[in-house]
Amino acid sequence: MVDQEITKVQELIYTTKVEAVMAPDVIVVSPSMSMTQVKELMRKRRIAGAPVADGDKVLGMLGTTEVMTAMEAGKMDSVASENMVTDVKIVSKDAYLVEVINLLGREGFPRLPVEDQDGKLVGILTTGTVIKALLHQMEISYQQREAERLQRYRASHIFQDIISDDTSLVLRYIVDDKDFANAGKASSMIKKSLQRVGVLPSIVRRVAVAVYEAEMNLVIHTDVGGEIIVDIRRERVHISAVDHGPGIEDLEQVLRPGYSTAPEWIRDMGFGAGMGLSNIKRCADTMKILSTRGGGTRLDIIFLLNQDSPG
Ligand SMILES: Nc1ncnc2c1ncn2[C@@H]1O[C@H](COP(=O)(O)OP(=O)(O)O)[C@@H](O)[C@H]1O
Ligand SMILES: [Mg+2]
Repeated sequence: MVDQEITKVQELIYTTKVEAVMAPDVIVVSPSMSMTQVKELMRKRRIAGAPVADGDKVLGMLGTTEVMTAMEAGKMDSVASENMVTDVKIVSKDAYLVEVINLLGREGFPRLPVEDQDGKLVGILTTGTVIKALLHQMEISYQQREAERLQRYRASHIFQDIISDDTSLVLRYIVDDKDFANAGKASSMIKKSLQRVGVLPSIVRRVAVAVYEAEMNLVIHTDVGGEIIVDIRRERVHISAVDHGPGIEDLEQVLRPGYSTAPEWIRDMGFGAGMGLSNIKRCADTMKILSTRGGGTRLDIIFLLNQDSPG
């Protein structure tokens, strides 16, 4: 059963990529700069920290803490590379905000360098850049909502206009494996389609989160991708995510929050926190997962639509 509503901000976190939220003009410190020069740079550019980089390769991070430590130790002539923090978390520009937001929040990294597929530094993510981008998107999504109103009005009559004993609308989406650049597109199209047929926003948000997680599992965990099928009826939406392998050995284990078999390189991109299936369960009215080791996996989730809460 549903035990938590998804807010607009949570939804945005799920549908926004790091690339859209990062500051693309990164101020970098070179490894040979003295700490005095670093302090001056930070003061002049009004920043509280920066990556230490050799060209576009990140070597470490420096912030006000390191400057203060160097100052107290009378080591302001020493170079950046001797004072930087080398335990750096770098995130991928293709990751969704949901995968990295905990690093800024709970894990307390004040800023995260962003790199592209080639490991080149392309931006920086801070709480400030995230908030600015989210506020901007809330504004855009308000304008989009207005623009979409007419289209939705027409589409939402489909179940009244078509006469049958039982009408259902079936939408299909193909999801490729390991295609991180396109990951999330199916969920965003599904979200838009449900909005157009007039599904309540609070339900659309829950569907969007669940389908995002289902889509990411096809991208991350399958051999050759899979398919998402959305079956819409007047009273419910039934979504299936189907693939042909490699299948799941222990179904009970994978439902445990935090359990993940995602390989290192995928975790390095920020995915694989092991919360996907529990998030789906939390959002959907019912969830069923069928799988065998060596066979395929089939995830079925259902959302009831005839809830009489106000839109
Ligand atoms: N379609 C799938 N095919 C094979 N394994 C899957 C599939 N979906 C989920 N799993 C398994 O379930 C685990 C938990 O999934 P999830 O809760 O989404 O966490 P995460 O995707 O972060 O690992 C995955 O690590 C993987 O082992
Ligand atoms: Mg997952």
